[in-house]
Amino acid sequence: MPKVFICRPIPEIAEELLKKAGIQVEKNPEDKILSPDELKKKVTGMDGILSLLSDKITSEVLESAGPQLKIVANYAVGIDNIDIESCKSKGVMVTNTPEVLTEAVAEHVLALMLAVARRVAEADRFTRRGEFKKWMPLGFIGPSLWEKTIGIIGMGRIGSLTGEMARHGFRMNVLYFDLKRDKEFEKKTGAKFASIPELLKTADFVSLNVPLTPQTKHLISGKEFKTMKDTAILINTSRGPVVDGKALVSALKNKEIWGAGLDVFEEEPKINPELMKMDNVVLTPHIASATEEARDAMARMDAENIIAVLEGKKAINPVH
Ligand code: GLV
Ligand code: GLV
Repeated sequence: MPKVFICRPIPEIAEELLKKAGIQVEKNPEDKILSPDELKKKVTGMDGILSLLSDKITSEVLESAGPQLKIVANYAVGIDNIDIESCKSKGVMVTNTPEVLTEAVAEHVLALMLAVARRVAEADRFTRRGEFKKWMPLGFIGPSLWEKTIGIIGMGRIGSLTGEMARHGFRMNVLYFDLKRDKEFEKKTGAKFASIPELLKTADFVSLNVPLTPQTKHLISGKEFKTMKDTAILINTSRGPVVDGKALVSALKNKEIWGAGLDVFEEEPKINPELMKMDNVVLTPHIASATEEARDAMARMDAENIIAVLEGKKAINPVH
């Protein structure tokens, strides 16, 4: 019987599907991130690993699993936690969960835009402290989203849907940058292609929707913050290291930008204590895909990829 290790508890459908397909499931019973050594031990002898973005799948982990390992199914669309080259060279398939979380993440981008601009989290804290004593004609004023400009860096599925939501929901102008230009998308939505400096110079909201790669690490750093409008709001739902965390804190402190909505952090789950003190920053704990629909579909997708590969068929969502 082939064996699969599930690194942390995820929706039960994954285990149900795997078992139904005759696969033995071993799992970390606790919702605790395994240390590299624990992970190495747990995956020994496994044919498949169902990993989370908090699990570093290094060449040592693959080595320790053994030569029978055929698939690492990541419970995420991002795959920067996995050493893809090592997987390739060892003949291990890697799969991810694209498409099923696109709506969830795009919704979260909009949620953060609204929360920062309309100061929802700050106002909630104020209200809970019992400070709402009278209606405030000058209190909690922030920018409107309506007919403003959003600049989207990374026009994949998530970036495109974010653009559509912004356009159709808030009649926003959409600028985007991507390595490739998508004329079809431009026609459909009226989005305009812009270089990163042009986009940063013009956008009222900047949303990062790129994967983390050596090329996108610190894509937004000191120079970029200086290029942005001092009224701009930065939203990051991609990966923390796409933004230079120190430069971000200094841009917020020096009012080079108006605010930020952050779902991901450079040294996640550690968060720069300076950010914790700032009222113009909305922080969420990497929850952009956390809808019932997306998380269930991600679990199903991982299971289906594992079953396919262990049955000798093609992976459904191969990343290499
Ligand atoms: C979450 O961050 C994901 O990559 O799916
Ligand atoms: C991720 O699914 C993307 O293409 O944006």
